[in-house]
Amino acid sequence: MSKLLIVANLKSYKNLDESKAWLDVLLKHKDEIQRMEDKEIVICPSFPYLFSFNSAFSESINIKVGAQNISPFDEGAYTGEVNAKQVKDFAQFVLLGHSERRTNFGETDDMLFKKVELSLKYGLSPIFLVQGEENAIPSGVNVIAYEPVFAIGSSTPDTPENADKVSSIIKAKKDYQVLYGGSVTSQNVNSFTGKSNINGVLVGGASLEAEEFIKIIQNA
Ligand code: PGA
Repeated sequence: MSKLLIVANLKSYKNLDESKAWLDVLLKHKDEIQRMEDKEIVICPSFPYLFSFNSAFSESINIKVGAQNISPFDEGAYTGEVNAKQVKDFAQFVLLGHSERRTNFGETDDMLFKKVELSLKYGLSPIFLVQGEENAIPSGVNVIAYEPVFAIGSSTPDTPENADKVSSIIKAKKDYQVLYGGSVTSQNVNSFTGKSNINGVLVGGASLEAEEFIKIIQNA
């Protein structure tokens, strides 16, 4: 059985001091988390903090680092871009297909397919986000996060029953590991992780307070 994957998406929040403070809290619980052998934690901070987060954890621990994005281009003359080859030095995962990126940055299926291809080329594991069962999923992806748009940052999560149903439809396409995301908190997390087709959670707002994220890990 695959481990329960618990992912923190810190989005475009936290400066250096705030990131350090967040990491300090997590590190206080490092041994406790390491004893949870059935869980794997992935922290996705902004690009400037990938290095320090990654340096804080040994390779063998069940806490990994993920990026929130990569360039749709390989290395080259693309001023301002951060590419998969660079990110791979500091992260094991990358979030691709988030609705905030599809909507605010015009990311299309074509672009996302290219990003998945580049992440796989350099050995980064994509966590591919879909907003529903109808979204196209690029080949090579193993982990999907189902995040209905209405549930993101709204305090109105999908029902665990519907999230489980959508996850089962996605799993019918391929034996994906499927996560649920959208207004997950320490209070509701186990109603999702208790469902047979849900293999973890992707947490935005509630992960910004490190203590709350620890509770989510404990309750998942
Ligand atoms: P939320 O965000 O937990 O704040 O709803 C989830 C996400 O956008 O990944």
